[in-house]
Amino acid sequence: MAERAAFIHVFTSTCALVVLGESLQSLHWKRLSDSLFFDGAVLLRRDFAFKRDILRTVKTSGEVHCGLACLSESDCIAQTYCREPWQKLKGTCYLHRRGIKDGLAEDAFVKSDGCTYQQYIDFHTPCSSKCQNGQTCSYDHDNRRYACLCEKPYTGMYCEKSKAMAFYFTFLGARGNTGPTSTAGYKRTPLEGTVTLNKGIQIWTVPFTARYSFTVAGASGGKGYQPGGNGAIVSGIVRLFKGTVLHLLVGQKGLKGSSAAGGGGGTFVVFSNNTLFAAAGGGGGGGGQITSKVGDDGQKGTNGSVYGGVNGLGGKVCADELNYAGGGGGFRGDGKCAFNITCVSPRSCKEAGFSYFNGGVGGKGDGNGGFGGGGAAYNDFGGGGGGYSGGGVYATSFGSRSGGGGSFGNGAPLSSSGVSHSSGDGYVLFRYP
Ligand SMILES: *[C@@H]1O[C@H](CO)[C@@H](O)[C@H](O)[C@H]1NC(C)=O
Ligand SMILES: *[C@@H]1O[C@H](CO)[C@@H](O)[C@H](O)[C@H]1NC(C)=O
Ligand SMILES: *[C@@H]1O[C@H](CO)[C@@H](O)[C@H](O)[C@H]1NC(C)=O
Repeated sequence: MAERAAFIHVFTSTCALVVLGESLQSLHWKRLSDSLFFDGAVLLRRDFAFKRDILRTVKTSGEVHCGLACLSESDCIAQTYCREPWQKLKGTCYLHRRGIKDGLAEDAFVKSDGCTYQQYIDFHTPCSSKCQNGQTCSYDHDNRRYACLCEKPYTGMYCEKSKAMAFYFTFLGARGNTGPTSTAGYKRTPLEGTVTLNKGIQIWTVPFTARYSFTVAGASGGKGYQPGGNGAIVSGIVRLFKGTVLHLLVGQKGLKGSSAAGGGGGTFVVFSNNTLFAAAGGGGGGGGQITSKVGDDGQKGTNGSVYGGVNGLGGKVCADELNYAGGGGGFRGDGKCAFNITCVSPRSCKEAGFSYFNGGVGGKGDGNGGFGGGGAAYNDFGGGGGGYSGGGVYATSFGSRSGGGGSFGNGAPLSSSGVSHSSGDGYVLFRYP
């Protein structure tokens, strides 16, 4: 670098500029726009022009007036003044929004006789009392000055503005009873590079403290001869803190078997200490016969429907014939199967959906349940939906019905308001503001 690192302080309250040849200079200057004093140094480069980040171009009579023009604009960091070839006292003044970084951007200088580049380097922290939204004043190495350091979603000189942001979590293209294995689906979205997977569960850290609106949707049951039930949607507003880690299991649709279909998975949002934030129930799988019922929708309340689970447990199956259709998994209890219409002796089976705590894998059978604890179908009988409590199944030779999973919202059981329905795979949306 051509400039010598020499600078002095000049403690006068009026405009004072000390020129030390091609060197770093110091000055104490009043910024005209906001009455702040500039106390710092100037990086000076003679016979060079800087061609980047031009805020504005003005005609001035001399270098000092060009400097005043820059200091009177709060966004101006540096200036290039180029003398007019035929006039000693008139020139073009380029005001720059950015200067050169520490030791970088040297290539942005263009040798230009008659031009002078000057960059202001603040020594003071005039911004500390002005940074809004809890943002801090710190030294900005790129621009060699103190500035409000605005973290997402805040922008603006004093972090006074904010940018709307939406974080949309999907099933990432995964199908059936197990979850996604790649986050490639988040490329070019605000979630790119921020989500890791653990056995299909998405782990995400809240990026900034704010009040977010959230929507959590369970998946639909699969369509057999009859349609599957829709997933429940739980929505509301929550204040989340930066750094809080969330585990998200996004429910997947139940699959169609030979005639009936598996139950939809529930969608779960859980704090890393295993406290449930929200769960939206999946729909029951569609039955395989004209006498079967349509799958139940994900439920507004915490209980699953049709012999569904309660208090976070899995759904049961009540049948009057040999039947392996699976109940949906709940938050803490797996779904069950049964071969007894009295429903008194439910047992574990591979067709039942696993609970969130046991990984949330859907049941395996003739029409797998969706990831998120959906129960599998068996012959004409659809599987139960997963959810806060799993949906159950009622199966007789005269028809059948599969239940939807229960829902839970914002750390508390839900009243019937705030729950609606969606078809397809589950999702989670956090939106600011
Ligand atoms: C779990 O973490 C959440 C979020 O940080 C917090 O609100 C909740 O109180 C914690 N629960 C327990 C039991 O520690
Ligand atoms: C859930 O089921 C239990 C047991 O049948 C019942 O006592 C409770 O009231 C139900 N909860 C709701 C919200 O319907
Ligand atoms: C069904 O359950 C009842 C009550 O426990 C029992 O008496 C009966 O033997 C069971 N039937 C079958 C087929 O398991």
